[in-house]
Amino acid sequence: MGNIPKTRLGILGSGKGSNMAAIAEACRSGQFPMEIALVLSDIEDSGILARARERGLPARFIAPGRFRTKLDEEAERQYVQTLQTARVDLVVLAGFMRILKGEFLRAFPQRVVNIHPSLLPSFPGLESWRQALDYGVKVTGCTVHLADPGIDTGPILAQQTVPVLDDDTPATLHERIQQAERVLYPATLAALAQGNIRIEGRRTFRIAPPQG
Ligand code: GRF
Repeated sequence: MGNIPKTRLGILGSGKGSNMAAIAEACRSGQFPMEIALVLSDIEDSGILARARERGLPARFIAPGRFRTKLDEEAERQYVQTLQTARVDLVVLAGFMRILKGEFLRAFPQRVVNIHPSLLPSFPGLESWRQALDYGVKVTGCTVHLADPGIDTGPILAQQTVPVLDDDTPATLHERIQQAERVLYPATLAALAQGNIRIEGRRTFRIAPPQG
């Protein structure tokens, strides 16, 4: 890993933080040129902040402001400023329950990544595992993609399939998808950090690492 400068990740989440924990383990392994610079949450007592602090990672609550599904202008400014002050290269959304738009995305062009618990473009939005069960698909999965101003619509970086079993409940399917997320997200971030993903409009390509 010697000479490659580490990609500094700023992780945003509102929930329990299982993806953050998996990414933290990948960083700690020292196999990839990436590190967690900062963890931010819009929920003061969220699991993600607690788990980050347990690991000794810088973790902060920033109040989201007056809206329910997005940040207000002042909060958006604070999030951007805090991430820039921490010299974050890549913003990693890991269960952040607010839509990020304009100012935020312009501050980190093509540098905001999200994970979604379905094979996009199927089942965008909330509780995708429940949507998949209700629809009756036999295969679902998870998707890592760049964030754009739409809901779960940005260019796809990686996907992993997950089978839907006959006796699945929303909870068992969700857990199986999350297990896949905990492998796919760190691996995809590592590929980005290593410069192994080329982005051309909506299409993205893996660049084979140099041999030898
Ligand atoms: C994940 O299932 C992810 O797909 C979705 O939010 C969930 C976050 O879970 N966007 P966790 O907080 O990482 O455990």
